[in-house]
Amino acid sequence: MSILLEKVTYVYQSGTPWQKTALCDVSLAIKKGDCVGIMGRAGAGKSTLLAVLNGLLKPQKGRVIVDGIDVTSLPAHKMAFLRQKVGLVFQFPEEQFFAPTVYEEISFALHNAGFTRGEVERRVKDAMDKVGLDYASFKERSLYTLSSGEKRRVGLATVLALKPQYLLLDEPTAALDYEGREKIYAIIREANKRGTTVIIVAHNLEHLANVCNRIIILEEGRVALDLQLEELALYAEEMERLGIYPPFHHQVVHKLQKKGLDINIYIKTREEAACAVKKLFPSLQEGE
Ligand SMILES: Nc1ncnc2c1ncn2[C@@H]1O[C@H](COP(=O)(O)OP(=O)(O)OP(=O)(O)O)[C@@H](O)[C@H]1O
Ligand SMILES: [Mg+2]
Repeated sequence: MSILLEKVTYVYQSGTPWQKTALCDVSLAIKKGDCVGIMGRAGAGKSTLLAVLNGLLKPQKGRVIVDGIDVTSLPAHKMAFLRQKVGLVFQFPEEQFFAPTVYEEISFALHNAGFTRGEVERRVKDAMDKVGLDYASFKERSLYTLSSGEKRRVGLATVLALKPQYLLLDEPTAALDYEGREKIYAIIREANKRGTTVIIVAHNLEHLANVCNRIIILEEGRVALDLQLEELALYAEEMERLGIYPPFHHQVVHKLQKKGLDINIYIKTREEAACAVKKLFPSLQEGE
């Protein structure tokens, strides 16, 4: 089970003087269970890529295959099925809220999908539980009375309630404080642990490296780098050219290697980096 993109090209306002190629010949395979971070400069095509994956935009060229189904040729009435399977959380989901209360907002798509009242209630409760919103105290709350972090969690619950196999998130922590961000990443990590394949667009690699096993960097609508987490230090210079800096611990092992030291740079975590450094300098004490 996977998502495959085969030479996908998406052009906005095609055939007009304002035409803009946002994705150009993109081929990718996203495996079930992956947690993939998508990065790149503003305008690189990240949001367009998510919209193409979720069927919101139909590429002019190429194919998108989700679990063996070519979704680029799905008829319009089958699109709802795709949106349930591949859930997209927009950058500011709160901008699209329209229901008066939390319960009504989360349940709207479930009613549309044809679930019974009992199943709708079960799913709303479950989704609110997953995002850490207490059902009894939040279900009747007006959306306007929520904090930004709570609103973002309602947006996430709306998509999680559909139980998507693929969860796409466009800058899910933009404009949130440290605590709000950590909560969102904890929910994403948990969804991925339970088997949901996750694709996150974000601008901070330090944050992504804590949850993702793979990082894809787009440049002007093309895939410039497609790296496993342990390859970040190896490609530090190429990444900097693309305006992206590896997490501090990857930079440390990269710099030590550049100085000619024999250090293992295939590291994922801070702990692995610390281990590699300690191997080089065995006299270093714990905490140094
Ligand atoms: N509706 C549209 N009409 C014309 N051009 C568009 C439209 N939407 C996006 N674009 C252009 O397509 C390119 C890719 O846009 P996209 O929103 O995918 O970039 P992004 O990588 O998500 O950027 P950001 O980091 O700023 O969110 C940009 O040059 C953008 O100006
Ligand atoms: Mg974007």
